[in-house]
Amino acid sequence: MATIRDIAREAAVSTATVSRWMNGTLAVRAETARRIEAAVKQHGYAPSHVARGLVTKSSRTIGLLLADISNPFFAGIARAVEDAAQAHGYAVIVCNSDSDPGKESAYIRLLRQKYIDGIVFLSNSHNRSGLRTAIEEHIPVVVADEEVDGLPQTGVFVDNQRGAFEAVSHLVALGHRRIAHIAGPRVHSTPLRLAGYRQALREAGVRFEKERVCYGDFQIASGNAAAHELLEVMPRPTAIFAGNDLMAIGALQAVWEKGLRVPDDLSIVGFDDVPLAAAVVPPLTTVAQPTAELGRTAVSMLIAKIEGRRFPKCVILPCTLRVRRSTGPVHSASGASRAGT
Ligand code: RIB
Repeated sequence: MATIRDIAREAAVSTATVSRWMNGTLAVRAETARRIEAAVKQHGYAPSHVARGLVTKSSRTIGLLLADISNPFFAGIARAVEDAAQAHGYAVIVCNSDSDPGKESAYIRLLRQKYIDGIVFLSNSHNRSGLRTAIEEHIPVVVADEEVDGLPQTGVFVDNQRGAFEAVSHLVALGHRRIAHIAGPRVHSTPLRLAGYRQALREAGVRFEKERVCYGDFQIASGNAAAHELLEVMPRPTAIFAGNDLMAIGALQAVWEKGLRVPDDLSIVGFDDVPLAAAVVPPLTTVAQPTAELGRTAVSMLIAKIEGRRFPKCVILPCTLRVRRSTGPVHSASGASRAGT
């Protein structure tokens, strides 16, 4: 099979000229272009990304490291990243790390060997060794979604505290005062969403009660277990704010298992607005993350970084409260009695 060296020899130019002409980053005289085209056609040459990476150190490919590919939130990010990268003429290699620092580092080294040009990095790990590997390998990286504490980074995030504040303020406006919270795991957003929950309670003159907060791991089962625990705290809560939609769906399941009804006996709010949120019964009120804009912005920042153009160090995007049927007014004493209050 012809290599870039065969084409260069045939066209009497350097391999770098062939590669840069093929990826459109070099204008050559018409006669030179004709010789290259003739040699490519004669040999049926197709550039190898790895071979091109060897010559130009650019493969027009970016890596996307995801925290949990089974979570529809990250699937939405992957969709947005791939669409934006393709629009910029870049391919994407998607890697699922399960937020395991060892897997994160292994994937980053593998991507390095593939001559990827940069990485969009998402992680739900409190261990920063994965991102540190990318920095030590001098790979252009943009962090998205969860900030990695303790390391310098370029990133695009959402206003987690404001989003949580609006979710709990919505419940307060419906008359709820006994509001529980299912917090997420040890990631940057968890204390911010908890702070938004506490700020809304404080502004409503409601005392914070630590026994009304339980921690989950962003999975459905942890939301179910946490909700069962929170529903045992007397007087029973009339509303639960969950740190993500999958845990909110677990809470929906737990309320049904307790023989209670949503929202008649208990209101539930989530965070993310994954497609499933609108499909569950009743449809979930939730804090919508601007997933598509997160992906687009991360790609734009990364490609600007790769191509040596100016880019913002940090972008914070707003969330939007999506009110659906899983929240309703706190009921009168009769309704409250059903909720055991
Ligand atoms: O659902 C997954 C969660 O992990 C999202 O809320 C995202 O922001 C990250 O924290």
